[in-house]
Amino acid sequence: KAKGKISSSIMCAEILDIRYYLDGFERNNIEYLHVDVMDGEFVPNYMLGTDYIKSLRKVSKIPLDIHLMIKKPEDKIDWFDFQKGECVAIHAESTMHLQRALQKIKQTGAKPMVAINPATPIMALDYVLNDIAGVVVMTVNPGFAGQVLIPQTLQKITDLRKYLDRKGYYDIDIEVDGNVSFENAEKMAKAGADIYVAGTSSIFNKKLDLDEAIQRFRKIINS
Ligand code: DX5
Ligand code: ZN
Repeated sequence: KAKGKISSSIMCAEILDIRYYLDGFERNNIEYLHVDVMDGEFVPNYMLGTDYIKSLRKVSKIPLDIHLMIKKPEDKIDWFDFQKGECVAIHAESTMHLQRALQKIKQTGAKPMVAINPATPIMALDYVLNDIAGVVVMTVNPGFAGQVLIPQTLQKITDLRKYLDRKGYYDIDIEVDGNVSFENAEKMAKAGADIYVAGTSSIFNKKLDLDEAIQRFRKIINS
């Protein structure tokens, strides 16, 4: 099995701590920066916009893993200037034109991904498997950091891994997002996850040493 990758959720950093975290992430070869975009409609919160994303690209070399929690993403792809090597996830529940939106992302050179809410069945992916590089399994309801894992989503990760293997889509990554604590990351690794969104429940905790926390997280996802 390929090594697990870490995607650090930058919305979990206090404004004045962003530099401190980015330095720590670069020092520890974090694979992605997870960027949550929320529109106050698809989810009950506002978070991180287009200019913030452009600023992040200027101050960090870590590729972005952009999670769009917005309605009608197909109309807004052009606003972001997505780059080659970036991951861009849109929600299956957010659009009537999932395949069209994925095609638009692909044209930018970024890797298209589909995110699914806890109640959304895996079969939502049935007819877009050729259009995606990954699936984001939401393990909490999207909108806020610091929530508790919805336990039945662990079974969904196991089911999704089997589903992808059965259909021969071995290259599609499974990303897990929401309450990926040290404890839950171990369960998610057993279930077959590939990319782990690290947030307030693991490495964004000023009480822990950042390097130690990242190293501990890495060890768990590769055990
Ligand atoms: C959800 C976001 C964050 C992330 C934060 O789309 O990516 O809320 O889950 O991590 P935790 O859940 O550990 O605070
Ligand atoms: Zn997210």
